[in-house]
Amino acid sequence: MTDTDTSTATTTDGETADVLVVGSGIAGCAAALAAARDGAEVLLLTKATKPADASTDWAQGGISTTRGNPASLKEDIVDASDGTADPAAVDALVENADDAVEDVLVDTLEVGFDEADGGDFDYTREAAHSEYRILHVDAATGTHILRPFLNYIDNHERIEVRQDTAALELITAEGRVHGVVSDEGPGGHPIFAGATVLATGGIGALYGRSTNPADATGDGIAMAALAGADVEDMEFVQFHPTAYAGDDPFLLSEALRGEGAVLRNGDGEQFMDDYHPQGDLAPRDVVARAVETEREETGEVVLDVSPLEFESEYPAIAEKCRDRGIEGDEIPVAPCEHFLCGGIDVDERGRTSLDRLYAVGECARTGVHGANRLASTSLLEGLVWGLQAGDDATGFDPEPVEAPELRNRDPDLPERFAAEKFTRLTQTMDEYLGLERDPDEIARASSVLRRLKGEVDAYIRTRTARDLYELRNASVVALLIARAASENTESTGCHYVLEAETAGGVDRTSF
Ligand code: SIN
Repeated sequence: MTDTDTSTATTTDGETADVLVVGSGIAGCAAALAAARDGAEVLLLTKATKPADASTDWAQGGISTTRGNPASLKEDIVDASDGTADPAAVDALVENADDAVEDVLVDTLEVGFDEADGGDFDYTREAAHSEYRILHVDAATGTHILRPFLNYIDNHERIEVRQDTAALELITAEGRVHGVVSDEGPGGHPIFAGATVLATGGIGALYGRSTNPADATGDGIAMAALAGADVEDMEFVQFHPTAYAGDDPFLLSEALRGEGAVLRNGDGEQFMDDYHPQGDLAPRDVVARAVETEREETGEVVLDVSPLEFESEYPAIAEKCRDRGIEGDEIPVAPCEHFLCGGIDVDERGRTSLDRLYAVGECARTGVHGANRLASTSLLEGLVWGLQAGDDATGFDPEPVEAPELRNRDPDLPERFAAEKFTRLTQTMDEYLGLERDPDEIARASSVLRRLKGEVDAYIRTRTARDLYELRNASVVALLIARAASENTESTGCHYVLEAETAGGVDRTSF
């Protein structure tokens, strides 16, 4: 048994980087690229061992551009958010969108976006978009962006990419972040940085059904919150309306409805016109609740892809259907956790409330999405904010301060401890903090989650196992969601509150 518990409990020994990026999706890659272009030596840490460990690789529909009309994209973003998106943040997105896409994706990475006859891009449309403005590659756009991006930064002389490496804690001193302690070595490994950029992605692992990869455990949000950074809008967890309804769900992109596929209930009827004037192309939160209602009332909902050339136009999705044995034009669908609209609060350059800490991509709350995100704006937000943050994060020298030395006195976890607690956590989230919430149930979730967090904390004092930290992070984020949900009694966007039988009575003590 290793005993790394020391009497000092801090260290100033460690390596240094000008800019430290944590996470390897589009936002992390963009931040690393921008910082390296500015001359910084960049270290990018990622838990991933393959591209598919990042949510970006799973993105289907595409990446929105403004197609020369930023005002129109802005209007659609604000409408889809139920009027809650921050106009200044949306301006920052739409004003930088086309340049970022052209510079990085088209000119630098030479992503082969689908083209129409005549050589122009084949712009597609998704729900709540008033125009055809989305660039895509089949419906596997994330893969076609991320893989060349990872290759590019991996070959960059000023960027080191370190895979299979998790950040466990932020190193902080007097309100400033100085890097992270990684899980290299039994007692952790301090990495001091001039600036630290969190790009750790979403929270899909907190729910039983998600369109995210399994290790989306909210690490950056938890680490930042525990260090005292402001976190906002955590109640706005977006559920995608059309994921395969069976085991091992996968996404059926909104691009399918954008190009003509329709939803039908168990009686074979189209129903979306009864719920919203935009019918099948209504905002995502509206469609997700309608799908759930129709599933309850008529037994099932299917996505009818017969109006499309499904096999030839969407080969990647068609292949997934074949792999699951789905035959014919009607694919059973159900809502599925997809995206967190809230996160670490940041400004237009990705700066958090802590000095020299940045957050970009899904772990950040820029204000662009408000209470409900418009389709195909997440890759764009990750790209735009990644570039801004990477650029802003340069020019600071790393300052070795005292870093926490993590204890690994007792590294053997009781067998299955993390897996069992994780199951309790996801069951609680599914049952009480899903598509529809009841104040009494939110209160119940809070007390279950607080107990769970207490049990995890007792173990983490003496162990540095990555799965234990992921569980700690997931339980911190789950509590943040429960707390935000309890504090917002209004139904807005993704946060839909059923009427309470009795007053909520949620204990709002901090996690
Ligand atoms: C989809 O392809 O439906 C997802 C796109 C997105 O979440 O932006």
